[in-house]
Amino acid sequence: MMTHVTQSSLTNLLPTRVSDDNGLAQDVMQGLSQTPKKLSSRFFYDAKGSQLFQQIMELPEYYLTKLEHQILSQQRKEILYSIDIQKPFQLVDLGAGDAYKTKLLLSELMASKADFSYVPLDISDDQLNLLLEDMHHRWPTLLVQALAAEYFQGLEWLNQNQRQRKVVLFLGSNIGNFDLPDAKNFLCALRETLNPEDAFLLGLDLRKDPEKIRRAYDDAAGVTSAFNINLLHRINKELKADFDLDQFQHFAEYDPLEGTMRSFLISKKAQEVHIGTLNQTFHFDAWEAIHTENSYKFSLKQVEEMAHSCGFKVQDVFTDKTHGFADVLLRPVSN
Ligand SMILES: C[S@@+](CC[C@H](N)C(=O)[O-])C[C@H]1O[C@@H](n2cnc3c(N)ncnc32)[C@H](O)[C@@H]1O
Repeated sequence: MMTHVTQSSLTNLLPTRVSDDNGLAQDVMQGLSQTPKKLSSRFFYDAKGSQLFQQIMELPEYYLTKLEHQILSQQRKEILYSIDIQKPFQLVDLGAGDAYKTKLLLSELMASKADFSYVPLDISDDQLNLLLEDMHHRWPTLLVQALAAEYFQGLEWLNQNQRQRKVVLFLGSNIGNFDLPDAKNFLCALRETLNPEDAFLLGLDLRKDPEKIRRAYDDAAGVTSAFNINLLHRINKELKADFDLDQFQHFAEYDPLEGTMRSFLISKKAQEVHIGTLNQTFHFDAWEAIHTENSYKFSLKQVEEMAHSCGFKVQDVFTDKTHGFADVLLRPVSN
């Protein structure tokens, strides 16, 4: 199901998946059949969702992008020095999105004439399409190989491409979308694909004032609410469903004990929703919740422990002035 897209294919324009099965139908079937109901946040980013996420990144409440942008713009030279960009490498960007912050590193790498190629990976074709066009216009000579894939498929790709040195980016606190055991599984599985000379830069949202965290996922202008509800719109469109979008509301809460920010869609009344493609009708009780997203907040100690237990050592920790966000540079420990 992995589609490889290179810049040369831009002349024929935008990439499509080899199979039109992006996993949405299976996720919806499984998630709405269980109690409590659940939908995966990985499907937020269709064209409309990607546009809404651009707006979220600009919201005054959404501090994550601003803090990580600050780190990467102010400390990019130190970060790249630590990674060692003198030797050739592939820069693999997991969940690249619009690569807003990766572009800070890319411009530095291009300016320093580093010998590298860029491998953005994203489950969203819409995001990759936009990114490829943007890359093509900004840096026509940059070698780009885009992968339309899920993270774990990305690990398979890494396993099969052991010949070149890899620098892997997992920015934006994307790892926080896993629950903790899965985050550790992912980290350990990634470690298995890397060699001692490879490097891994992991962006993490750190624990802070719970109210500040909560507001970032429940902004006053209601953009995050629209982003969450757009998931139902996507299911209507792609799976021929009849969710009445006005009859669901966004709800977000932060659990300061666990460090988990959770988002939900709440059914405002008892209702039935038919999903044509699945040939299934699902019942929702009044005020029943669908869990749509986890955004875990870490302590640095916890990250260090998790990294060590998976066979990484912490080479450097880059943080912003407020210590609200961290980009942690990990290196595989030699076996
Ligand atoms: C919050 S955006 C972050 C983008 C960028 N890395 C940043 O830091 O700004 C998350 C991106 O990860 C992608 N994504 C989410 N879950 C994914 C998964 N399981 N596999 C691959 N990509 C995923 C989404 O499509 C989206 O483009």
